[in-house]
Amino acid sequence: MMEAFYILFLLANNLLFSVCQNEFVFNGFAGANLTLDGIASITPNGLLRLTNDSIREKGHAFYPSPFHFHDSTNGKILSFSTMFVFGIISGFPDLNGHGIAFTISPTKDLSNALANQYLGLFNDTNNGNLSNHMFAVELDTIYSSEFGDMDDNHVGIDINSLKSYNSSTAGYYPDGQNYFKNISLTSRRAIQVWVDYDGKESRLSVTLSPLGISKPHRPSLSSIIDLSKLFLSSMYVGFSSSTGDVHTNHYILGWSFMLNGSATALDIGMLPALPFARSYGKSKTKAFPLWLIIVLCLVGPWIVFLIFVFIRRRISKYSELMEDWEMDFGSHRFSYKELYKATNGFKEKELLGTGGFGRVYKGMLCRLNLEIAVKKVSHDSKQGLKEFISEIASLGRLRHRNIVPLLGYCRRKGELFLVYAFMPNGSLDKYLHDPIKPVLDWGKRLGIIQGVASGLLYMHEEWEQVVIHRDIKASNVLLDSELNARLGDFGLARLYDHGTDPQTTCVVGTLGYLDPELARTGKASTVNDVFAFGAFMLEVACGKRPFELRARQEGLTLFEWVLETWEKGSLIHALDPRLGENYIFYDVILVMKLGLLRGHPVPSVRPSMCQVMKYLKKEVSLPEFLPNNMRRCNENVLRLMQCQGSENDTFSYASVSSAYSISR
Ligand SMILES: *[C@@H]1O[C@H](CO)[C@@H](O)[C@H](O)[C@H]1NC(C)=O
Ligand SMILES: *[C@@H]1O[C@H](CO)[C@@H](O)[C@H](O)[C@H]1NC(C)=O
Ligand SMILES: *[C@@H]1O[C@H](CO)[C@@H](O)[C@H](O)[C@H]1NC(C)=O
Ligand SMILES: *[C@@H]1O[C@H](CO)[C@@H](O)[C@H](O)[C@H]1NC(C)=O
Ligand SMILES: *[C@@H]1O[C@H](CO)[C@@H](O)[C@H](O)[C@H]1NC(C)=O
Ligand SMILES: *[C@@H]1O[C@H](CO)[C@@H](O)[C@H](O)[C@H]1NC(C)=O
Ligand SMILES: *[C@@H]1O[C@H](CO)[C@@H](O)[C@H](O)[C@H]1NC(C)=O
Repeated sequence: MMEAFYILFLLANNLLFSVCQNEFVFNGFAGANLTLDGIASITPNGLLRLTNDSIREKGHAFYPSPFHFHDSTNGKILSFSTMFVFGIISGFPDLNGHGIAFTISPTKDLSNALANQYLGLFNDTNNGNLSNHMFAVELDTIYSSEFGDMDDNHVGIDINSLKSYNSSTAGYYPDGQNYFKNISLTSRRAIQVWVDYDGKESRLSVTLSPLGISKPHRPSLSSIIDLSKLFLSSMYVGFSSSTGDVHTNHYILGWSFMLNGSATALDIGMLPALPFARSYGKSKTKAFPLWLIIVLCLVGPWIVFLIFVFIRRRISKYSELMEDWEMDFGSHRFSYKELYKATNGFKEKELLGTGGFGRVYKGMLCRLNLEIAVKKVSHDSKQGLKEFISEIASLGRLRHRNIVPLLGYCRRKGELFLVYAFMPNGSLDKYLHDPIKPVLDWGKRLGIIQGVASGLLYMHEEWEQVVIHRDIKASNVLLDSELNARLGDFGLARLYDHGTDPQTTCVVGTLGYLDPELARTGKASTVNDVFAFGAFMLEVACGKRPFELRARQEGLTLFEWVLETWEKGSLIHALDPRLGENYIFYDVILVMKLGLLRGHPVPSVRPSMCQVMKYLKKEVSLPEFLPNNMRRCNENVLRLMQCQGSENDTFSYASVSSAYSISR
């Protein structure tokens, strides 16, 4: 009996996909013959899982044999059509990355392509090259400004490049209604996609809709594209996907394709279910057996009692604070227990460093297989905490490849924990000033400066609200596994912004990076970040701290020293001597001058982050100025430092501590 069922089951499985010359249908992928590489795999229940829980990886799946898209009679491209159902499930409610692309490619070997924002399709040398012959429809969940993305939830037509030929926010036009309805690609629900090419009109249409809603008549996106030059004589169809810093599972549930015709509709009832999501097939409910109920009634009270005792013991160990208003931020809240376990009980062994705001521990979240850095901040002021936490909840959604992702927080009595993605190469500070670390070459340094600039620009101007970092410095710039720069610790300064005494204005920042303007007005603005970024640029180029104790006794900041060097001869003499001869003269001068310009006495001459970016990209040339233009501002800096002089201990920690206050 069982065997008969088993044979039937095998037969049914084989019927799931039918293969003809110009067509295939996969209602689920159990037993499917696809060419997989990277971290792609087929799950036991028949999902095509393009990416698993590994971060910064890519996965590909191609139909094994190629198709011939050219119509031999007229040299044009035959019509084709494909339909697939996908689902994106990330380990976090609001973080994910990077997306899925349906791909038509001349090769199945995309091993040279990069993960992250490159979606496993291209790398930084071949992106945009006409000889790629690559077509893709991207379902992109991250906003990458470098590719001109429109937002962090869009569908785009990519021809040889990640800079989309045309794109649209993900969504659809419901039939019979005249509006566009957004779809969140990362909603954890299954979404249907149709890609249709009409060979006669050369029109490519992409249509989306949630599973269960039939194909809308009006496509979400459509463009006239002549594919006859793009496609080579034989092309492979498949999918590509990549993860960034947050492990995200990208799934395909079913897929059909047809050349010279329209793709067969998938049988929704046969599709495998996404994990942790509602099953779309019929569900069976089982009755509770009677004996189980009786047994539970008998031993139940004892179990409850034991659990009660156990919980009482645990509660004191892992107790945390939670107030009503925090319910809204539930998804960003980690339990203390989880963090305690992740960091081995905040053991010294896991200590990564000690900064002005607290101690940072390394941890491993087993549940998500994710390395994290947990910052333990002690706080006593109730005031401002609510505001701060609501800000964390929104900062948790801030995603940019030059910003360290903030994953969430936890709170106990007098303690706050911030959970960040772990950056394996630590802080830039060490690379600049620790003689044991290898010297970063000029190309890397320039890349780091540009990366931080791009992260800041995003915070200041491109995100939904203006975020002021307030504590930009080399030790807050972390390096990921590829030595890309990422800004960390943003927003933290805000916690210290609410002094209990209204007469005291608390100024947060680090000596040498701190804008004298801020001390005067006591109100932080993006201009202060630009000022600090200037100091940062000088630090990276000169390999010297912006403010050193020795220098203070001589009354000299890095800013002044660079100015003096310029007056005495050339700015190039201020360059970090460890770089030797390996630098680009023009770029060094650009960075130094830009670093000085932030301190210009006339505030209107100080550039905004947007302008800084344009200067760095050499789209606009820097205004001319001479060292003696800068003098007046520098006196302001000195005055500020004298006013700080009385607080001895803050100075002795100038290189590590970041918070100090002045009263006025
Ligand atoms: C998968 O398809 C390829 C190409 O059509 C074929 O060479 C190979 O034998 C197939 N593998 C299996 C296990 O059917
Ligand atoms: C993801 O898949 C790859 C290849 O199959 C495997 O080496 C890796 O361990 C997997 N990652 C996780 C987190 O399971
Ligand atoms: C980028 O990909 C192309 C095409 O696969 C390859 O030839 C090239 O070597 C790759 N470049 C890098 C830097 O990996
Ligand atoms: C495009 O790629 C081809 C072959 O890989 C290479 O010869 C050519 O120089 C590249 N073109 C550009 C503009 O990078
Ligand atoms: C749809 O998404 C776009 C772009 O993200 C946004 O501007 C718009 O407000 C959204 N519409 C609705 C109804 O949410
Ligand atoms: C881009 O897509 C929109 C919406 O489908 C369409 O109206 C527009 O013409 C397209 N643009 C190009 C250049 O194809
Ligand atoms: C494409 O389909 C049309 C009509 O169905 C048929 O006449 C034509 O021969 C087909 N072309 C190819 C190359 O199969």
